[in-house]
Amino acid sequence: MTGPLSKVKSKHFATLDSTNTKAAGYIHRLEDDTLLMVSADEQTSGRGRFSHTWLSPPGQNLYATFGFFIDKTRPDIGNIPQIMSLSATEILQKYGLSSRLKWPNDLLIDKKKIGGVLAETFSLENGKKDKLFMIVGIGLNINMPAEMLQNLDRPATSLFIETGKIVSTKALRKELLQCFLKSLNIFFKEGFHPFLQSYEKQMILNKDDPINFHVNGKMLEGKFHAITPQGSLKLRLPDGTLSEFVSGEIFLKKN
Ligand code: BTN
Repeated sequence: MTGPLSKVKSKHFATLDSTNTKAAGYIHRLEDDTLLMVSADEQTSGRGRFSHTWLSPPGQNLYATFGFFIDKTRPDIGNIPQIMSLSATEILQKYGLSSRLKWPNDLLIDKKKIGGVLAETFSLENGKKDKLFMIVGIGLNINMPAEMLQNLDRPATSLFIETGKIVSTKALRKELLQCFLKSLNIFFKEGFHPFLQSYEKQMILNKDDPINFHVNGKMLEGKFHAITPQGSLKLRLPDGTLSEFVSGEIFLKKN
């Protein structure tokens, strides 16, 4: 049985290469009952999923990584990044912004990316052999102006662009920490089930929306069918069959 996490260890830095890389270094320095949060004002080598880079200019956005131990045998570890993205939608909502989720854990506003999650797990060679050290990094575009985002290869936006408001990244980070800690402790006890309904509600895709799906080096065409109770993606393929996926990247089709 994992958790509950009853303590928080918070470390903030002016500059880091990547908060994920820094957080990974805490593997031998963290107690079982503690949630680590490593954050930075700037990342010089911010990392995204599928070897993308994550634009991380100083003082404008939220870059944070959460670290904790989890039982190796849990079959639902893959849901944790989804729970992180759900926590982030909840916080953005408090700041007046309704974001949508693109499976598994991208945050979007009108098909433009405002946030993403990169999770990694590490085994322990000595001691704690039954546990994994998990890190869940999140980047949220907060005060970044439009000029900085226009040259990216995929459409992106920020809280400032959408609402015209400049907000404190420190305050937002604190709220996200509290929200994720609460959700994580619920997840440790009850699994993904308590989150499924709100995850489905936040999804950008509706049943039968056509998508391209990149998985195992192949690009598939299909129609979104459903999210399973385990948080996997169910796609209807062109031959009419249904296929289930636990990882991959969705490309939305233009209207
Ligand atoms: C994605 O590709 O959508 C995931 C982006 C994750 C970016 C965050 S920023 C904080 C943490 N540190 C990193 O290097 N990456 C994650």
